[in-house]
Amino acid sequence: MRVTVVGTGYVGLVSGACFSEFGHHVTCVDVNADKIKALKAGSIPIFEPGLDALVERNVKAGRLDFSTRLGDSVGASDAVFIAVGTPSRRGDGHADLSYVYKAAEDIADLLYGYTVVITKSTVPVGTGAQVEKILRDRAGDKEWDVASNPEFLREGAAIDDFMHPDRVIVGTRSERAQAVIRELYRPLFLNETPVMFTALESAELIKYAANAFLATKISFINEIADLCEELGAEVQDVAKGIGLDNRIGRKFLNAGPGYGGSCFPKDTLALLRTAEEINRPLRIVQATVDANDQRKKSMADRIIKALGGSAKGKHVALLGLTFKPNTDDMRDSPSLDIVPALLKAGATIAAYDPEGMEEARKLLPEITYCDDAYATMDKADILVILTEWNQFRALDLDRVGSLLRQRILVDLRNIYGRGEPQAHGFEYRGIGRKN
Ligand code: UGA
Repeated sequence: MRVTVVGTGYVGLVSGACFSEFGHHVTCVDVNADKIKALKAGSIPIFEPGLDALVERNVKAGRLDFSTRLGDSVGASDAVFIAVGTPSRRGDGHADLSYVYKAAEDIADLLYGYTVVITKSTVPVGTGAQVEKILRDRAGDKEWDVASNPEFLREGAAIDDFMHPDRVIVGTRSERAQAVIRELYRPLFLNETPVMFTALESAELIKYAANAFLATKISFINEIADLCEELGAEVQDVAKGIGLDNRIGRKFLNAGPGYGGSCFPKDTLALLRTAEEINRPLRIVQATVDANDQRKKSMADRIIKALGGSAKGKHVALLGLTFKPNTDDMRDSPSLDIVPALLKAGATIAAYDPEGMEEARKLLPEITYCDDAYATMDKADILVILTEWNQFRALDLDRVGSLLRQRILVDLRNIYGRGEPQAHGFEYRGIGRKN
């Protein structure tokens, strides 16, 4: 099959590369000429494990190419994916859909032969219907269908998520479109991945409801973690104990400094706005968002408390800046709340992150960036682990202790085992457990 993917952001690039790996001929299109030039030269603009090799392999095989012009491929395509950005609009939290609609207009003018136009960007319920209207207005005489095919890719694990999804959701009732999409995802369906065909609106809502539910799980366990600290319980045991009930499930119950990233914060807000507009407020999602905002803000206080109540003149070693490991993404990372609050309280900070420092330097210019984890610790009064990169899981605690001025470890991801830091003389503070 021939496929065009419009937008070479995270979703577009990963999806395009993976469809080409399935054997389809894919053209990824972006209006940003510099980006396309870089991609043609083999340079991948995002950090995603395995993506470089996947792109290189498929470009070499002649199945994947890049262009700035939709006209090069849309006419020949069986399926065109819209995977452009939908940033939060300043002020009102609504998703900005202008790029989606512009893409739909441009595609409409270029359609030739039966084509399925599929939204992959996360778009509010009703956007697919609007895309359908644009196509009717501009390409009423041509053969096409519109579908919604939301993605459920996690940054850092996106290729694996694409290749081994829990399910594929497709919003279209057209049997002709369903046949095209079945063919597109054929390798997955041979492996018996469940596919669900729904109404356009249902597919759009499934994406938001899934992210809101996952965010709710996180805010829930974070509040339980606070309770554990007061009551002498241990949140990891509580999470496991409730998660073994299949109705609850064990995943996404890791307590931490609050969720960040480009999806949960943006999607929960967009869903709240949609619900407000139709006068059906979502109280649980609202509470999830409020609890998460509060949580991110409260993390600096936790660190200050571990320092004995004041951060004035104290030097903090900070490991991890990105919102989670295996990404260079700093969007809505808890570090963006923690660092300014510590600086305001009079601390100095030395930090290290394996992939996030280039971006972090722009957002948090007032701190010292180090070349490795141990370099942050020199004469620091406290060590704080903020992101659970694997390389922070097995620090040489004797070496850490000899570098620090005081052996205090605040582990906001609970990556150290019970008693281990204490055995090395550390005062240890995890999340939701006895210290
Ligand atoms: C999330 C979803 O997991 C994907 O299914 C979805 O496709 C994607 O959003 C999207 O909408 O595009 P992502 O934001 O990449 O993926 O990252 P996650 O691994 O879900 O983590 C999100 C945040 O939750 C991170 O800050 C992470 O540290 C936090 N988290 C996650 C916890 O605090 N505890 C957990 O148990 C799990």
